[in-house]
Amino acid sequence: MRKFLIIAAALVVAACSSSATSAPGASTAASAAAGAVQVGIVLPTKDEPRWVQDETRFTDALKAAGFGSQVLFSQGDSAKEKANVEALISQGVKVLILCPQDGKAAAAAADEARAAGIKVISYDRLILDTAAVDYYVTFDSVAVGAAQAQYLIDQAGATKGNNLYLYAGAASDNNAFLFFEGAWEKLQPKIADGTFVIKNSSQAVGLQANATLTHDQEAQIIGQVSTNWDFNTAKNLAESNLTAASAADKGNVYILAPNDGTARAIADAFAADKDVTKYFVTGQDAEKASVQYIIDGKQGMTVFKDVRTLVSDAIAAAVAYLKGATPDKSTTYNNGKIDVPSKPSAIVTVTKANVKAALVDSGYYQASDFTGL
Ligand code: BGC
Repeated sequence: MRKFLIIAAALVVAACSSSATSAPGASTAASAAAGAVQVGIVLPTKDEPRWVQDETRFTDALKAAGFGSQVLFSQGDSAKEKANVEALISQGVKVLILCPQDGKAAAAAADEARAAGIKVISYDRLILDTAAVDYYVTFDSVAVGAAQAQYLIDQAGATKGNNLYLYAGAASDNNAFLFFEGAWEKLQPKIADGTFVIKNSSQAVGLQANATLTHDQEAQIIGQVSTNWDFNTAKNLAESNLTAASAADKGNVYILAPNDGTARAIADAFAADKDVTKYFVTGQDAEKASVQYIIDGKQGMTVFKDVRTLVSDAIAAAVAYLKGATPDKSTTYNNGKIDVPSKPSAIVTVTKANVKAALVDSGYYQASDFTGL
């Protein structure tokens, strides 16, 4: 551990500007202290608490390693992301940790980094269609979708004919496909045996006999039920689904929502419909607002992905590269061009029953962050 901290202290987190006015990558608080920028970190957006969690955990980990740091964002804009990466290249980084806004669009930035001799670590989301990715730091995203589906299955128990609403993430994010894949493989047998009846996707109904889906088939469904990882898109889609549905399609409903932000938007829409008696909705990320929703009975579950683990894996991989070594690998992910080495981390299902143990007693959040715990 001590050895790790000493090596980690040699790292510098470079800043990628989140403000529209300042130049990308302009501010590097840590670089002043350490003299040279060796590792650059680019996160997709500050508008979702999920990525602010990552920023906090990166900052905490690097502060613990003995120096200040600053992590800024690309603000949902692939052009800005590329400019951020180029700024880091010109600062001479040795390792780039990049969470792409759009997996395919990020290939060009990764290619530029590779051409400059930089190691490229794909962070949480996979950079697609390029050979210029050295390593992928991630959670087991198929397991995330499976955990969401399992929650809905557990709630339905032995009952049949339950109304099911499906929602997905952004089609530009490879994770959205992995989450949906994991969910579909669990839900499909329960659709086939009559436990669930899909209510909001004609594409999914058309494919419901398929135990597994091709990427194209997934894309057809996601095209119809994508939230684009956006609160308002999710809310509007849920509202239009509810407007199109009959009273019989409501009552008790089971909702696959891909993450916490969209879960709260969708939950609010369903809660406001007078024909919805009860709803069960999934989520992911253990965002504080969703933890409060779970405590209040407004969201059924979330998937806890301990960002501290992801950050420490990313730092360990960067340290390995700086030492001329190779990070640990347990599997690979195909990105359309190559099989990218990876060591995915485990996830934890959180419901009202274990919310305190998993998220407060574990030290991840403070009890005072919530009411009614
Ligand atoms: C991440 C999720 C996040 C979503 C929206 C996904 O790639 O894995 O944790 O909720 O993007 O930002």
